[in-house]
Amino acid sequence: MRDTQDGAAGADATIPRLLLDWYDANARVLPWRIGPAGRAAGIRPDPYRVWLSEVMLQQTTVAAVRGYFHRFTARWPDVGALADAREADVMGQWAGLGYYARARNLMKCARVVAGELGGIFPDSRDALLALPGIGPYTAAAIAAIAFDRAETVVDGNVERVVARLGDIRTPLPAAKPVFRKRAAALTPPVRPGDHAQAMMDLGATICTPKSPACGICPLRACCLARRAGTAAGLPRKAAKKVRPTRRGIVHIAWREDGALLLERRPDSGLLGGMLGWPGGEWGEDPADAPPFAADWVTLPGEVRHTFTHFHLILTIRTAAIPGDVVPEAGILLAAQEFRPSDLPTVMRKAYDLWRTTPGPWAGR
Ligand code: ADE
Repeated sequence: MRDTQDGAAGADATIPRLLLDWYDANARVLPWRIGPAGRAAGIRPDPYRVWLSEVMLQQTTVAAVRGYFHRFTARWPDVGALADAREADVMGQWAGLGYYARARNLMKCARVVAGELGGIFPDSRDALLALPGIGPYTAAAIAAIAFDRAETVVDGNVERVVARLGDIRTPLPAAKPVFRKRAAALTPPVRPGDHAQAMMDLGATICTPKSPACGICPLRACCLARRAGTAAGLPRKAAKKVRPTRRGIVHIAWREDGALLLERRPDSGLLGGMLGWPGGEWGEDPADAPPFAADWVTLPGEVRHTFTHFHLILTIRTAAIPGDVVPEAGILLAAQEFRPSDLPTVMRKAYDLWRTTPGPWAGR
């Protein structure tokens, strides 16, 4: 191991070798992954499963993704099956995972791969980048993990590992290009896919944000932050902007036979393409926009939900759908067609508040 003049961990093979040795003994068992033993036996990862997992893992934790991944692959075992799925079914299975544009792009991508590429995923970063919903990070991850291309994969875990290895004190986001360069210098020509996954696993299990387990880290001898005692404080982050709070009003309309009135949200924008309760725009002072005229009752209590860029406080209003009303807008779902699990989390919270609030709708 050599240190360069600027304090960087040297671009030699020591770190990747130590890391791969560690990975061979400690890789996390993940449902989309072919572990080191499988790889040694010549088993290659299925690009469909790698692609699906990487799209799900964008901005979402491994723990949250596991169950979704199992359900998706049980129902749609290959890209052709997913391309043939009904969009509403895919959106329903995605409900709760958030960032719903991912699910719509997932469908678009599946249809391109199944329809135009004979069901075969391209094996280079550039060709992957041309597909819907695949950005630079995901293209690099698929190229490395599924096809062993020597691409550098940089997520939050990897940024933390390289920040500490090099004791880089520049705060994020300004440090991003520096982290990328360091990560690229560490990417080996052999087993780059396992290297990428090893970096992520190290960041997730040992080089953790708080209280890193430096004592058992395979890279402890090469880590400049460990030597300087700065590891726990890295990477530095510029002060976060405070999230504003918005308000909204949603309407839960129910019929005596248990039917409920929903709407499908427009494809673009937040919760795009998902089912939800009818309501107006969210903002500082939201207008009440009931789907039909009735004696709407405001429920006691509110629903709180935090999105990436703001907090939301929802007021729930409810009314019975009179026997002579056929709502013009929206989707009237019969009780047996309505699955709360098809709702995005914020709409599910509204449903839970409604259904647990005593009223004439109770037990429906
Ligand atoms: N986070 C994003 N992609 C991942 C992967 N392939 N393995 C583990 N964590 C990840």
